[in-house]
Amino acid sequence: MAVRLGFVGTGGIANRHLGCAMKHPEMEIVGTCDIVKDLADEAAAKYGGTAYSDFVEMYDKESPDAIVICTPPFAHGDIEAEAAKRGIHIFVEKPVAISMEMAKGVLDSVRDAGIICQVGYMFRLSEPIKHVQQMLAERAIAMVQAHYYMPGMPNKGWWTKMDMGGGQLVEQATHMLDLGRFLAGDVKSVIGKTTQVRSWEPPAGYEEPEAGLVGYKDGFEIPDTTALILEYESGSLGTLSCSMIPQVAWDNGFKVVAEDCLVTIDSQNASWTNEDGEGSMDAGSNWADAVLTDFVNAVQTGGKNAVPYEEGVKSLALSLGGYLSVERGCVPVELAEILPDGL
Ligand SMILES: NC(=O)c1ccc[n+]([C@@H]2O[C@H](COP(=O)([O-])OP(=O)(O)OC[C@H]3O[C@@H](n4cnc5c(N)ncnc54)[C@H](O)[C@@H]3O)[C@@H](O)[C@H]2O)c1
Repeated sequence: MAVRLGFVGTGGIANRHLGCAMKHPEMEIVGTCDIVKDLADEAAAKYGGTAYSDFVEMYDKESPDAIVICTPPFAHGDIEAEAAKRGIHIFVEKPVAISMEMAKGVLDSVRDAGIICQVGYMFRLSEPIKHVQQMLAERAIAMVQAHYYMPGMPNKGWWTKMDMGGGQLVEQATHMLDLGRFLAGDVKSVIGKTTQVRSWEPPAGYEEPEAGLVGYKDGFEIPDTTALILEYESGSLGTLSCSMIPQVAWDNGFKVVAEDCLVTIDSQNASWTNEDGEGSMDAGSNWADAVLTDFVNAVQTGGKNAVPYEEGVKSLALSLGGYLSVERGCVPVELAEILPDGL
C-alpha cells in the first residue's frame, strides 16, 4: 500500500519532495500544511491532498503514515514531537534544528516513539558518493578538504538571522560537514574562524531580482565567510571553507586524500585516481529524490533508513561547534562537550 504523506512547510524545497511524491506509485499526498495558508492551498492544488495551516489538525484529520518537514531551522520541535506522539514517521530536511537543546528534545521523542526518522542529507544517497565511500572505507584518510561557495544568498528573511537560520554553517554548509562524516567517520574536535568581508546593506536604488539569489539584504547578521579545521576520530584532518560572497557560480565539493587514492567530489558527482587508474561516475538526473524514496521504503518494510535522526544531530553539533569555537576565540571545541550522551 502507498505510504500516506503529510507535508509541513510548503515553501521552496518542499516542491522537490512534493514533485517526487506526486509521481511515485508508493507515495500518496494526503495533506499540505503551511502557516501561510495560501502556500498550503497552492501546494494542494498543484500536487494533491487537503490544505491546512495547523499541523496538529492535519495529523488528527488525515492520520498520515509519515510527514515530510520542510520548515526553516528555527521552526522545529513541536512539529516532530506531536507527530512522534501519534506514531507518525518523520522525514525532516536538514539542518534538524537551530540548537542542540531543540535537537535533543526531538531525538528523545523519536526514540521514545520508536518511529523511523530520516534527515534530508541527499548527497549521501548519490551513487557516485556511495561508490567512493566504499573505496575509502579500508584506507587511511589523510585529508578531507571541503568547500561550499554560493554566488549570493537565498532571498528568505530567516536566512540572514543567526537565531532563525543559524548561519551558513548550520543552514547550508552542513551538507559538506555531514558528507565529510559519511566519508571519513565522526569528528572529534573543530576550530572555526569567521569574517564578514563586505556590506550586505542594499545600496540606494538596489532592486531585488525576481528569482534566485540576492546580493544584499537589510538586517544581515551572519558571517559571510567561514573556515573550519576538523580533527576526525580516526586522526584524519579536514577543512571546510564556505562563503556566500556574490561571485559567479555555485561550487561545492571535496578533495579526499587517502592511501593510494585521490578522490574529487563535485556536488553529487565523483572522480578518482587509485591503484587501478582513473575513474569517474555521474549521478544522473533525479538523484536527489533517493533520500525520500529510501525513507518511504523503510516505512513500508520496517527496514533501516539511510540517514537516521542521530546523524542529523551529530552534523548539527559540528556546525554549532564551529561557531562556538569562533565565540571562544578560535580554540578547539570537543564535540563530546555538546553532543547528547551516547552519540
Ligand atoms: N536538502 C536540500 O538540498 C535543501 C534545499 C533547500 C532547503 N533545504 C532546507 O529545507 C528547509 C526549508 O527551506 P526552504 O528553502 O524550503 O524555506 P522556505 O522559507 O522557502 O519554506 C519554509 C516554509 O515553512 C513554513 N513554516 C514555518 N513554520 C511553520 C510551521 N510551524 N508550520 C507550518 N509551516 C511552517 C513557512 O511559512 C515557509 O513557507 C531549511 O531547513 C533548508 O535548509 C534543504
